[in-house]
Amino acid sequence: MIDLLIDWYGAMGVDEAIGDAPLDRLAAKPAQSPETVVSLVPAPSIKVPPTPAVATPSANGAVAPMSRPASAATMALGEQLLAARHAAAAATTLEALRQAVTDFDGCSLKATATNTVFADGNPAAPLMLIGEAPGADEDRIGRPFVGASGQLLDRMLATIGIDRDNAYITNVLFWRPPGNRPPTEAEIAVCRPFVERHIALVKPRILVLIGGTASAALKPGSEGITRLRGRWFDLVVNGINETFTATAMYHPSFLLRSPDRKRESWADLLKIKAKLKDIE
Ligand code: URA
Repeated sequence: MIDLLIDWYGAMGVDEAIGDAPLDRLAAKPAQSPETVVSLVPAPSIKVPPTPAVATPSANGAVAPMSRPASAATMALGEQLLAARHAAAAATTLEALRQAVTDFDGCSLKATATNTVFADGNPAAPLMLIGEAPGADEDRIGRPFVGASGQLLDRMLATIGIDRDNAYITNVLFWRPPGNRPPTEAEIAVCRPFVERHIALVKPRILVLIGGTASAALKPGSEGITRLRGRWFDLVVNGINETFTATAMYHPSFLLRSPDRKRESWADLLKIKAKLKDIE
C-alpha cells in the first residue's frame, strides 16, 4: 500500500521532502468551527474582470503591482496572457524584467516552485543561451543550469572558451514544472512575452536555443531539434521588429541519456565558436 502511495506521489511530481522537522499529521486536531468546514459543493465559477490595461513603469523601470491581486488559479488563460504581455512590455530594464517575472502570479507553475529562476551570466555578452525549464537543483538554488545537465553544458561550453562571464543563460520557463514533467503549451505561452522581452533587452549577437522545447517555443512551426541544430537561421522575435542570428543544439539532458549524440553537439559548438570569431 505504502509503495503504491509513494509511486502515486512520484507520478504527481512530489519528489522532495521540504520540511526540516517531521510533522505528526495524526495528532488530534482542534474541532473545526462551522465556518471553517470546507464545503464539498463546487463553488460557482468566478468571473474575473479583465486585467486593467495599464501597467505603469516607475522611475527605475519597475512595474507597479496590479490593483487587484490575481493568481493563475483565478485567471483564465486569456487574462494570464494579457497580464504577462502588459507586465513584460512595461519592463524597460533587465532588473525591472526580473522583478516583473518574480512578481507575476499568472503562471500556475509558480505555485509549486520554490524559486523563480530568471537568468545567470553576463547580459552584456554576445552569446545568449535559452533552455527549457528549471529542474530540482535550479528550483532550489534559483539559478539556471546548475544541476547535472547544467554541469555538462558548462563543460561543453568550456571547450570553446565560454563560461558564464562571456555568456548569458536563461530558460523559456521561469518555474520548475512539478516532477520535471514537460511544460504545457499554456505554460510556455504565458512565459513567452517575458522571454521575448528578455531577448529584446539583452540584444544578443548570437542566440542558441537549447533543446526541442526552447526551439519550438521560440520558432514555432519549425522543424524539430534534429533538423534545426547545427544550422544558422534568422529568429524573428514576436512583438519586437528585430531579427536575431540563432542556432539550436541538443539539450544536455538528452546528451546525458544519449552520449553517442555528443559528436553532433561538438560540431555545433565549433560552429558557434567560429560565428563568435566572425562577429568580433
Ligand atoms: N534544464 C534546462 O533546460 N534549464 C535549466 O535551467 C536546467 C535544466
